[in-house]
Amino acid sequence: MPTVDYGGPVAVTRDIFWVGFHDAEADMHCNPYLLVDDNEAVLIDSGSIPQFPVIMRKIIDVIAPGQISAVVASHPDPDVCSNMAVVEDVVERPDLRIAAHAASLRLIRYYGLRSTLYAVDRHDWRLTLGSGRVLEFIPTPHLHFAGSIATWDAASGTLFSSDLFGAMDHDWQLFANASYPPDMNTWHEMIMPARSMLGAVLDRFAALPIARICPQHGSVIEGQAAVQDAIAHLRELPCGLDRL
Ligand SMILES: [Fe+2]
Ligand SMILES: [Fe+2]
Repeated sequence: MPTVDYGGPVAVTRDIFWVGFHDAEADMHCNPYLLVDDNEAVLIDSGSIPQFPVIMRKIIDVIAPGQISAVVASHPDPDVCSNMAVVEDVVERPDLRIAAHAASLRLIRYYGLRSTLYAVDRHDWRLTLGSGRVLEFIPTPHLHFAGSIATWDAASGTLFSSDLFGAMDHDWQLFANASYPPDMNTWHEMIMPARSMLGAVLDRFAALPIARICPQHGSVIEGQAAVQDAIAHLRELPCGLDRL
């Protein structure tokens, strides 16, 4: 596989870009993604304040920030979306929407946002772009926040899974290799409440034609076989309460 240059945006597909911060010293990486659709773009899990300058530079390498019509937040954690107020400042669109579950928006509003808060659970769990492309939101309750959601882009077969399928490791790479599933253990053991909570969500994922999973930590899981392997691995993993 050719070497990936993490100094700039990395194309995951022709219209999905990783715009995160590569910290060679860290054992955890945060992965904001930019989905570009014609002249419109959606930023998914926009990231933190300390990493904002790098994230925004990479976004500007791909599009003009004013093309961003929506920012999706899978849940309210600071690593996920604490930079949204400064993202708003750069995007400068009065019609910008912040899309999240209502339970998440209840906390996200404390980041000091002025854009329209778009509760996905009150909009049929979907956001429709100007082209007609639909982003569907899948509830992943208590994994690990009450209002956590995943984002499903059927057009590209991409599941943006938030903290699910994430990993911590000192030897990070954006694209997972075959040894990735056990790399997910430490993260899920620590942050997910119990294996029994994952089953119904994993069933729903397993039924989708997922071509790749883009998690908010760890590495992109590319290909249907690798996706099914990762789902099977998490089904068997004791985590949270199971380990107390
Ligand atoms: Fe989180
Ligand atoms: Fe996270």
